[in-house]
Amino acid sequence: MNLKDEFVRLFGEGGEIREYFAPGRVNLIGEHTDYNGGHVFPCALTIGTYACARRRTDRKLRFSSLNFPEAGILESSLDDREYRKELGFSNYPRGVIVTAAEQGYEADAGMDILYYGTIPNSSGLSSSASIEVLTGFIIKDLFGFDFDGITNAKIGQQAENRFIGVNCGIMDQFAIAMGKKDTAIFLNTATLRYQYAPLVLDGVKILIMNTNKKRGLGDSKYNERREECERALKDLQKAVDIKTLGDLDEEGFVLYSEMIRSQVCMKRARHAVFENRRTIRAAEALREGDLVKFGQLMNESHVSLRRDYEVTGLELDTLVEAAWEQEGVIGARMTGAGFGGCAVALVKERYLPVVMDAVGRTYRDKIGYDPTFYIAQTGDGPARIG
Ligand code: GLA
Repeated sequence: MNLKDEFVRLFGEGGEIREYFAPGRVNLIGEHTDYNGGHVFPCALTIGTYACARRRTDRKLRFSSLNFPEAGILESSLDDREYRKELGFSNYPRGVIVTAAEQGYEADAGMDILYYGTIPNSSGLSSSASIEVLTGFIIKDLFGFDFDGITNAKIGQQAENRFIGVNCGIMDQFAIAMGKKDTAIFLNTATLRYQYAPLVLDGVKILIMNTNKKRGLGDSKYNERREECERALKDLQKAVDIKTLGDLDEEGFVLYSEMIRSQVCMKRARHAVFENRRTIRAAEALREGDLVKFGQLMNESHVSLRRDYEVTGLELDTLVEAAWEQEGVIGARMTGAGFGGCAVALVKERYLPVVMDAVGRTYRDKIGYDPTFYIAQTGDGPARIG
């Protein structure tokens, strides 16, 4: 399939058609910490979103996606700045265009964009952030804006928060906008200071395991978890001077946790605090080449997401617990928001076929359908490719 040919077939000839790519991401550790001022440790993937785009001479916006052929061409205008349900997936690029304009990056002409994503939808590998960051990159290129990758990530996050209505943190958009092959990004979400950590995984692969259980962030319990953490923070702030849960360490949490009035909020906060510390230790372990330690921290992360944060569910638990039982699996955990989507494991390469076979069988027996496996390849951030 040639995306430019498809573009011309749909939108017609004429103008300069440019081609772009932005990756998806997988988070190795540091889950539900990014809206709590904690650390995250994601990497960009080679799967992602492709697009062809061109400027128009009027103010029309026309979007289409090869992933949603039944939606056809979704048409709107630069002058319509409202979320519109009937405009389906195109609300993601529309949200980015509106948000960028609010920040002074105002497109002075409409555009046609055709998208094609290789990230499975609702898999927790950030197909929506990939579309957002890609769109930010496209308008930067088409209209000559001079914002950097971090600004692009922030625009994407704001579009998601204010236009789409999901109160996500910065992790996904940051990982995608700033991705670098063969590295994971160790990001402090409170300060946005970051380091590229070389992924030296001698004979070890990153295995992504998809539950194939669809989830939508918007209708999930994501926003509720965020509110629970905010309530816990407010209670803690009566006793201790902190700006975010990420400012506390384990000892601090034990000392002050009785301030948190609700048991549920206490558990959510405990996850956020301990997960942040695990992420810092995991980055250290990777630096020291201690993959065994890294794997243990991944396992602990999953337990905490299951017990305290309660975002795993039967499908993710089944995959991860089956992986833990396999020889050659160094660590495994759910990744992304949870409630379905994907898990991630570090697996010794020579054990991969056996692990996939055994985990696949256990999952099918218990859940009734197959999971899908991908061996992750890390990749770079957004680029113009044609
Ligand atoms: C989703 C959100 C991120 C992050 C993760 C959980 O992917 O978009 O901001 O909160 O969930 O770690």
